[in-house]
Amino acid sequence: MPKIIIASDHGGYNLKCEIVKHLKAQGVDIEDYGCYSTESCDYPIYAKLVANDVALGVKGDLKGILICGTGIGMSIAANKIKGIRASHCTDTFSARMTRMHNDSNILCLGERITGIGLALDIVDIWLNTEFEGGRHQKRIEMI
Ligand code: RB5
Repeated sequence: MPKIIIASDHGGYNLKCEIVKHLKAQGVDIEDYGCYSTESCDYPIYAKLVANDVALGVKGDLKGILICGTGIGMSIAANKIKGIRASHCTDTFSARMTRMHNDSNILCLGERITGIGLALDIVDIWLNTEFEGGRHQKRIEMI
């Protein structure tokens, strides 16, 4: 299991707390990069913090989770960083396929879109699905 770094803005703060609790209960090594309350803040700051560390692999086998109101702003910002394949998922099929085919290294979720139960299922599937490699390796290298 990779180490997970996670962050949100105010719009994703409550869902982030649920995900941290859920993953800690499974013994996952998880580090919270903020924000630390529902006070208004700017999602690009948190997207960049997490995406930079995932791209650099500064903490070894590392994946990221980013949450905002929709998940869209976080995914747009994270995907600006070279080497990042951030996937905004609202269903479990996409979560599985984006690991198998895209070797997704950041999962983006929207607290105002996806309920807690489904979000936790998405997280579990995304974390526990391996990249298939093969023809998909060549394709991600083309990005
Ligand atoms: C904040 O209101 C909201 O814009 C943000 O959480 C996110 O949804 C942006 O994409």
